[in-house]
Amino acid sequence: MLNFTYVNPTKIIFGKDQIQALNDELKPYQNETILLVYGQSSIKKLGIYETILAIAKSLNITVEEEAGVRPNPDLSSVLSGRKTCIDKEVKFILAAGGGSVIDCAKAIAFSATIENEDDVWPIFLNQNQATHAIPLGVVLTLAATGSESNGNAVITNDKTAEKRIAGYPFTYPKFAIIDPTYTMSVDTHYAIAGVIDITMHVLEQYFSPTTRTETSDYMSLGILKSVMENTERMRQDPNDYDTRANLSWAATVGLNWILQQGKVGDWATHRLSYPITQYFGTTHGYALTSIFIAWMRLALKYNPEIMTWRLQRLGKEIFNVSDPETVIETLKDYYQSLGAPTSLTDAKITIDDAIVDKMVDHALKLGHLGNVFTIDPDRAKELYHLAK
Ligand code: NZQ
Ligand code: ZN
Repeated sequence: MLNFTYVNPTKIIFGKDQIQALNDELKPYQNETILLVYGQSSIKKLGIYETILAIAKSLNITVEEEAGVRPNPDLSSVLSGRKTCIDKEVKFILAAGGGSVIDCAKAIAFSATIENEDDVWPIFLNQNQATHAIPLGVVLTLAATGSESNGNAVITNDKTAEKRIAGYPFTYPKFAIIDPTYTMSVDTHYAIAGVIDITMHVLEQYFSPTTRTETSDYMSLGILKSVMENTERMRQDPNDYDTRANLSWAATVGLNWILQQGKVGDWATHRLSYPITQYFGTTHGYALTSIFIAWMRLALKYNPEIMTWRLQRLGKEIFNVSDPETVIETLKDYYQSLGAPTSLTDAKITIDDAIVDKMVDHALKLGHLGNVFTIDPDRAKELYHLAK
């Protein structure tokens, strides 16, 4: 186990009707201007929009809006929100929605501190850095990314279609209001994609080259077990509160970095999935499962020492099987039972050498790829082809 310092500054305000906590959380911004960031329509249908405006009005807060943020949020929304923040001297940003809205809000929060608009995208290319951000808070509506309690922002450049990530300690939300009842109206496509995303965050941290990390490992496997059980319950009864509450909490702890303490995660599947979303528009969760089985097979080939016992531990705790190959097949069956693609063909994606070259190029530009085994361009090609 490795040394670590763990800080997570996000205050989690969890449960039914917790949106009323905004009365206290927004008090410091009385008589100021805030920016409300949201998506297409869900917060209006859920009554969240009206509640936020009413609370803001009672505190004499002026609310500017960045509306219509799309899944896989666009750089243009970030730049538009940034301009509003600068023009209107916005003091606080409130994101109300899923991961896309929260990521967009975080990117607005740090880009508003950057003097020139042209310097914003280079931050996502790792060519320059932000140093601070406007504070932000979250009202969460979809259990998936964990973005409500981490500093990461995943943004797509709508001109080049490149999907990239930037993350800072100062873009952790100050608070996250998580009312699981909101998640009941998410449609099946996104609810299942969300569940998959949670499992993938847990597994990308579980599959690690670091040894003797039982505490983090069993926490991860416990969360995985809860997510699997509660996904089944969600499919039987989408309106059961405790089911949604367990999934929502799993999403938050799945990527608030507690599971990765004392070890390194892998994250190659996430990085390699971004070009799939970029080129084929595949929803994040399904882009992940379309290549994850191939990743596990290659990981077992290139790092059998680690993968053998890690797959055995996972198999024993979750599926009651122990042969590593069988564990991979069992995970494949599990994702298929959710209706998720476990190959590129399943995801209705056809690739040729030319597009694979471009995908590899994009994925490797994101930086070092893989910790269980290092993925160089040849291995990335091998992985995409194996995933066909
Ligand atoms: O636009 P609205 O109307 O809000 O509709 C959204 C959207 O169409 C809808 N939705 C959200 N809450 C709803 C609802 N519909 C009905 N009822 C509700 N309560 O769901 C659709 C998808 O929303 P989105 O925010 O895109 O989903 P998700 O939370 O899965 O976020 C995905 C994005 O997060 C990034 C992904 O790459 C992707 O761009 N990620 C962010 C991470 C992070 N910041 O740590 C980590 C992840 O690995 C991931 O990369
Ligand atoms: Zn993810």
